[in-house]
Amino acid sequence: MLVEVTGGHVVFSTRKGVFRSGQVYALNGVELTIRRGETVALVGESGSGKTTLGRLTLRLVEPSQGKVFFDGKEITHASESELRPFRQRAQIVFQDPFSSLNPYMSVRELIEEPLIIDGEGSSQERRSRVDAALEAVDLLPASRFAAKYPNQMSGGQRQRVGIARALVRDPDYIVTDEPVSMIDASSRIEILALLDRLQRERRMAFLFITHDIATARYFADRIAVMYAGTIVEEAPAGAVIDTPMHPYTQALIAAVPEPDPANRFKRRPVVPGEPGSADGRVVGCPFYNRCPHRMTGVCDTITPPLAEWESGHRTACHLYDSRYATLEPQSGSPLVRTDLQYSPMNGR
Ligand SMILES: Nc1ncnc2c1ncn2[C@@H]1O[C@H](COP(=O)(O)OP(=O)(O)OP(=O)(O)O)[C@@H](O)[C@H]1O
Ligand SMILES: [Mg+2]
Repeated sequence: MLVEVTGGHVVFSTRKGVFRSGQVYALNGVELTIRRGETVALVGESGSGKTTLGRLTLRLVEPSQGKVFFDGKEITHASESELRPFRQRAQIVFQDPFSSLNPYMSVRELIEEPLIIDGEGSSQERRSRVDAALEAVDLLPASRFAAKYPNQMSGGQRQRVGIARALVRDPDYIVTDEPVSMIDASSRIEILALLDRLQRERRMAFLFITHDIATARYFADRIAVMYAGTIVEEAPAGAVIDTPMHPYTQALIAAVPEPDPANRFKRRPVVPGEPGSADGRVVGCPFYNRCPHRMTGVCDTITPPLAEWESGHRTACHLYDSRYATLEPQSGSPLVRTDLQYSPMNGR
């Protein structure tokens, strides 16, 4: 296993005014594993904890409970100096290619900077690695793009620079946090295709954070669906899309707009009801108040664990638990809740 988070909790302390402080429960016991060369997509509404989980796997935040491992080594509370070798192997591509690049640095300086920080190679070696990174992201001819500054490039080109900056260290693992949501529609498909190609050529592991479950399907081996700081469903991408088990996933998929390539990345899925709150600890299922299938007396009191109900398909939902099969709503075997399964063919 390359990346592993077990029982991950992250609590942020916030200030509300001068004297009061609050706690934000951003992650509430997350289990996540990513194998070498695998792409896992993290989907869910705004505030569900996707970025926090991505940052936790990179140890850019420290967990308040739980453990983080990289390549079998525990890094839960490792110091910055202990993390140095890890930092080279694990990289992030940010959402916003406009604010994440220093406008006063040339493309060559921007991509070379991580190598200088690592103390890598001679200046000649670094130069050829920068050129190779530019070629890998199709900014050609490399020498021409190396001399440019961020404001001389389009959003798509800037995001390519952000990707080259991550690639130049030859990482094993990359987190991409909404990498195409800030760039123009015409460049989005190209950037996604580039990431897809790089992933396959280099067998890097990816954590691909996105609002858009349709993009996740295109890109990921597995999809993990987040809700209110927990993973509520996790399975091979096709299984999540074609036979979603958790009522939240079913609602997310039902809310995906018609397949219009120009619109698809802009429109965000809308699930009825208020999103889960991170202000307090949740008792029972975090989706209880919005769930069309909730079972009062169970779902509002017992927190459902993320359990494997079908091979490779895990979900945190009491509806599949045979102990509650006699409760409403009810239909047939708890393992084959056909009444709950969304079928893209007849769902609309
Ligand atoms: N540094 C921080 N300090 C305080 N609260 C934070 C911090 N970072 C995130 N949060 C809170 O933690 C929760 C999860 O945030 P996170 O950014 O991980 O969600 P997200 O799923 O990435 O959302 P989005 O889709 O909007 O990017 C939210 O309630 C957010 O307000
Ligand atoms: Mg985010």
